[in-house]
Amino acid sequence: MRAMVIDRYGKVPMRLVEMPAPKIGEYEVLAEIHAASINPIDFKIRDGKVKLLVKYKMPLILGNDFSGVVVKVGAKVTRFKVGDEIYARPRKSKIGTFAEYIAIHEDDIALKPKNLSFEEAASIPLVGLTSYQALTDILQLQKGQKILIQAGAGGVGTFAIQLAKLMGATVATTASEAGSNLVKSLGADEIINYKTEKFEELLKNYDAVFDTLGGEILEKSFEVIKSGGKIVSVSGLPNARFGKEYGSGFFKTMLFSIASHKLTRLEKKHNVQYTFLFMKPSGEQLRKIANFIETGKIKPIIDRIFPFEDAQKAMEYAEAGRAKGKIILKIR
Ligand SMILES: NC(=O)c1ccc[n+]([C@@H]2O[C@H](COP(=O)([O-])OP(=O)(O)OC[C@H]3O[C@@H](n4cnc5c(N)ncnc54)[C@H](OP(=O)(O)O)[C@@H]3O)[C@@H](O)[C@H]2O)c1
Repeated sequence: MRAMVIDRYGKVPMRLVEMPAPKIGEYEVLAEIHAASINPIDFKIRDGKVKLLVKYKMPLILGNDFSGVVVKVGAKVTRFKVGDEIYARPRKSKIGTFAEYIAIHEDDIALKPKNLSFEEAASIPLVGLTSYQALTDILQLQKGQKILIQAGAGGVGTFAIQLAKLMGATVATTASEAGSNLVKSLGADEIINYKTEKFEELLKNYDAVFDTLGGEILEKSFEVIKSGGKIVSVSGLPNARFGKEYGSGFFKTMLFSIASHKLTRLEKKHNVQYTFLFMKPSGEQLRKIANFIETGKIKPIIDRIFPFEDAQKAMEYAEAGRAKGKIILKIR
């Protein structure tokens, strides 16, 4: 099969190689990949920035979500059969969707939403699961609550705005002029132009913040939350609570605790709960998301589709950080 690999960590371009298709385990299916999406985690993995959380062997096929068709099933697979059209985010130890085939555990898969093309379906798994876990599992967002979603025009933001509206929340989001119409069309109630306005001065008494930017923006987000509110970040620093829950061990948990001490201070000062989210694969949650899509409550937002051969160009485009919605690789 053809696959896009890196041979070492660092800012190295991906290489198109021929290699054997993967063998499947008894609980895995072999999926023929039709489309994959690019996510910032792809270049963070390439750069070695997630080594503390997951280590990979080289050469490594990049790519963290896809849509495709089941072409073989393992002996103990019960929920999928050859010919099923699926979409998925593979578990972190088994990534590699910038390829023609992948072996993937059946627990990580769901049937692809019937009303989407393969390219559209590939845009959903990673950002859909991230938003679902942030808004449902962690923030437990309730009808009538107010949420700030940072970077509403990005891959995660465009999904999260739609999900928050579906959950009955009032949504404020940050976007530039270029992303403003898009986030409005997705239902954002208040749009803050982050280039000319300061969200921390405009918003007060919010119940929740979903942060996708980290750093100073995350720190300033504590100012808009009311006492007892919650912040979840997918780009901030992991804290000691995350280390314990993720089973990171004593040394790494200590490291997380030291690195995130400023956030812990802000948590206490504002009486707000801060959670770092490292999203998990889940076929079950993808089934719920497919239902939202098939009933027209959430739609995919695609910025550009690149042919597989141009995967490196697509990565560079994604890395520029200006995408409105998702960037897709058409593999088949
Ligand atoms: N921990 C996890 O499990 C997890 C899961 C998913 C994602 N993430 C992380 O979440 C982050 C976002 O992912 P993504 O896929 O949404 O990225 P993305 O699609 O590349 O985000 C690009 C968008 O961000 C907007 N943006 C950039 N700077 C901004 C700012 N200061 N204020 C408001 N908007 C801004 C850009 O708008 P303009 O071009 O208009 O400026 C652009 O539309 C990444 O760092 C990713 O690694 C983590």
